[in-house]
Amino acid sequence: MNLERIDISYARSILPQSETKARISIVGLGYVGAVSTACLSSLGHSVIGVDIDPEKVDKIGRGLSPIHEKDLGSYLFQGVSAGLVNTTTDLVSAVRETDVTFISVGTPTAEDGGCDDSYIRQAARKMAQGLRQKSGFHVFAMRCSIPPGTTLGVLTPIIERLSGKKAGRDFGICFNPEFLREGVAIDDFHKPPKTVIGATDLRTAQVMARIYAPVDPDPIITTIEAAEMVKYVDNVWHAAKVCFANEIGRLCKPLGVDSHEVMDIFTQDTKLNLSPYYLKPGFAYGGSCLPKEVRAVTHMAQKAGIDVPMIANLDRSNKAQIKQALSMVKATGAKRIGILGLAFKPGTDDLRESPALELMADLQSEGLEVLAHDQAISSETAIGGQLAYVRHGSPGLRNLAETLPDLLRDDLDDVTQHAELLIVCHADADYRAATRQSRKPVVDLVRLFPEAPVGLEVDGIGW
Ligand SMILES: NC(=O)c1ccc[n+]([C@@H]2O[C@H](COP(=O)([O-])OP(=O)(O)OC[C@H]3O[C@@H](n4cnc5c(N)ncnc54)[C@H](O)[C@@H]3O)[C@@H](O)[C@H]2O)c1
Repeated sequence: MNLERIDISYARSILPQSETKARISIVGLGYVGAVSTACLSSLGHSVIGVDIDPEKVDKIGRGLSPIHEKDLGSYLFQGVSAGLVNTTTDLVSAVRETDVTFISVGTPTAEDGGCDDSYIRQAARKMAQGLRQKSGFHVFAMRCSIPPGTTLGVLTPIIERLSGKKAGRDFGICFNPEFLREGVAIDDFHKPPKTVIGATDLRTAQVMARIYAPVDPDPIITTIEAAEMVKYVDNVWHAAKVCFANEIGRLCKPLGVDSHEVMDIFTQDTKLNLSPYYLKPGFAYGGSCLPKEVRAVTHMAQKAGIDVPMIANLDRSNKAQIKQALSMVKATGAKRIGILGLAFKPGTDDLRESPALELMADLQSEGLEVLAHDQAISSETAIGGQLAYVRHGSPGLRNLAETLPDLLRDDLDDVTQHAELLIVCHADADYRAATRQSRKPVVDLVRLFPEAPVGLEVDGIGW
């Protein structure tokens, strides 16, 4: 399917002000569906809840909560009493009688560890029948946690094929991840951490934005795939936070340090610790502090007999990023390589544990010819002391330490003209201009360009 990417700022700017409330059907009355039914009815929407489980349908239809969830029962009771909540096992008629369908069937773990989408497929077939029987635009809002590509690759083709209608023209498709936390789900609905609408057409984005306007007037509108992915990324991040805090706790206890005191201080730093800082995909970490201190903490844990697999594997993950860059370069077949930016980050001449230097050594070990440029390092820069450290590194690094002064060029043009391929390690305006001008293929480790310039071959390490 070939739907246009919607203009996000435009979608926001023209959100309609109409007071007409969309009629909503909700497929799957588990935790997500039951809470959505209750909360959307509390915003004045007429909601038809659908499930294949007649017991849930019966309970919710009588205004009773099928699960233990704070305030859910009273919300459902009010919705049913106001005539806004109805339930059925008939999904076809529910779609026919509503404007928007929220899909919240289960997506359990499949036998191979992936995501079992069989409930989605089952529901899609019924929804398509309902759509076929109705006229007018209908929006399907997928709310299940699913791998990127499932909404457009699994759900949409089934609905299109069996309804005979076209997504983006006859009906809308979007992905609207659910971020509720069980136990405080009703509260989270009314004060959401964020509202994300992944859509491919403006009309669908508007319909969804209007539904959420009372609780979040400024939803994030994005692509369907980004919305699908962000749901998983959020949960993996939350899991990572839990494991990280627990590893710190396990480590602090035998050291006689109060882990809560430590983490209270840690979380007060909203500049570097709890912030977007360090959270953009890019190249590996390096420098004089991070690698050394990760090693020190891992060693502390080993000495204390404490297993900290997350912290102990950071170095492994970091090396995987360097290996990834190496295989991207090897895949091009280029023999003469130019590295732009050699220090562990821009604005310093510190080469200690620079991942760019590791990459350079690996490239040399592969028999490739490498020249490098760095804005902060010239032939005048005293790098002798730093190279002393390098001499204690891997055999490749030791080898590089001998030859590095000859491979560093003061003149950027020397590097770009000699190379068949450029690796950019620093996001630098001169490097942006030089790569554009040279037109050599680029392996980009820093997202030098938001979008690759026309005519320039750019391969990003994580984009
Ligand atoms: N539980 C959470 O806190 C939470 C939070 C965010 C996202 N999610 C995601 O939302 C989705 C739903 O989660 P849940 O916890 O509510 O699941 P759940 O297992 O509690 O409920 C799923 C419901 O869907 C019903 N169902 C299955 N196939 C159906 C069909 N063809 N027609 C109608 N009903 C059908 C089942 O009978 C069940 O009642 C999952 O993808 C989950 O990963 C869950």
